[in-house]
Amino acid sequence: MEISFYDYHPEPADIRTEVLAGLAQAEKNIPPKFFYDEQGSQLFDAICELPEYYPTRTEISILRQYGAEMTELLGHDVVLIELGSGSSLKIRTLLEALRPRVYVPVDISREHLLNSAERLAAAFPTLEVRAACADYSRPFELPLTDSDQPRAAFFPGSSVGNFEPQEAEAFLHRVGTILGPGGHLLVGVDLRKPEDILHAAYNDAQGITAAFNLNLLERINRELEGTFDPIAFHHSAFFNPQDSRIEMHLISNAPQQVQVAGEAFSFSEGESIHTECSYKYSIPDFQSLARRAGFTPVQVWTDAESLFSVHGMRWTGET
Ligand code: AVI
Repeated sequence: MEISFYDYHPEPADIRTEVLAGLAQAEKNIPPKFFYDEQGSQLFDAICELPEYYPTRTEISILRQYGAEMTELLGHDVVLIELGSGSSLKIRTLLEALRPRVYVPVDISREHLLNSAERLAAAFPTLEVRAACADYSRPFELPLTDSDQPRAAFFPGSSVGNFEPQEAEAFLHRVGTILGPGGHLLVGVDLRKPEDILHAAYNDAQGITAAFNLNLLERINRELEGTFDPIAFHHSAFFNPQDSRIEMHLISNAPQQVQVAGEAFSFSEGESIHTECSYKYSIPDFQSLARRAGFTPVQVWTDAESLFSVHGMRWTGET
């Protein structure tokens, strides 16, 4: 079947403005979306394969085990939207059972989107694929018409955990308005768990997560004429129990001055640049957040060790 491509020309994030603004704060920070340049995306793919990084394989095993129940909830013949489809690997586990009428992968990376949409269309020849290049973290358009009903959305990987909870609520609300009444959302959410498991997942023995974090400094050097010496900083990741989140930081090993895009920034020894939050939810806490966004939780699937959860919810728009 045909594959069509819709380019909504998402505006590239303004790395210069955002990095300079973040480094000028009293508590320095850099938004995590800047992790994902070519090198960072490859490092993230390597993280997903690590023995300590349980989320990816656990979510896939949940999708495999409960695909039939998920299909029962969503129904066949839906128009299925995947937000941040990347290589469209996880959706393959569901497509066989779900047999949607249309698949709408949405991703900001044009090339990645096109390549994976083509591969997917070849593997599922009866599926209509409408690939949409858009930035789902802002209000966005999709190639849908009024007759494209019923709708369902898939948002895997616990990417929802990288939003601040209020942003997550606003994002889910936007997704709900796209789905319309009776539309369903399947969302992968990492669960709160003993700290040693979380600590290992973000401090792997091979140092891949550290390299992923430190690549931010190298990216700034490459793209913003930065003078960061990556060995003058180290990776730090820890669980903050009050806010129920993993925090990633880059810590300065010594007092130093760094130039970025012609501006100077001073670091004291031990000073941090906060680079990521990864929120971990209990099932009831995530359900409350979803209710505030206008969804009714219907079903939740988890693994035997309660490491990860996939929530099935219906949009009502009522809060
Ligand atoms: C993409 N996101 C869900 C990952 C996470 O676990 O928060 C990013 C990541 N950061 C360090 N390791 C993986």
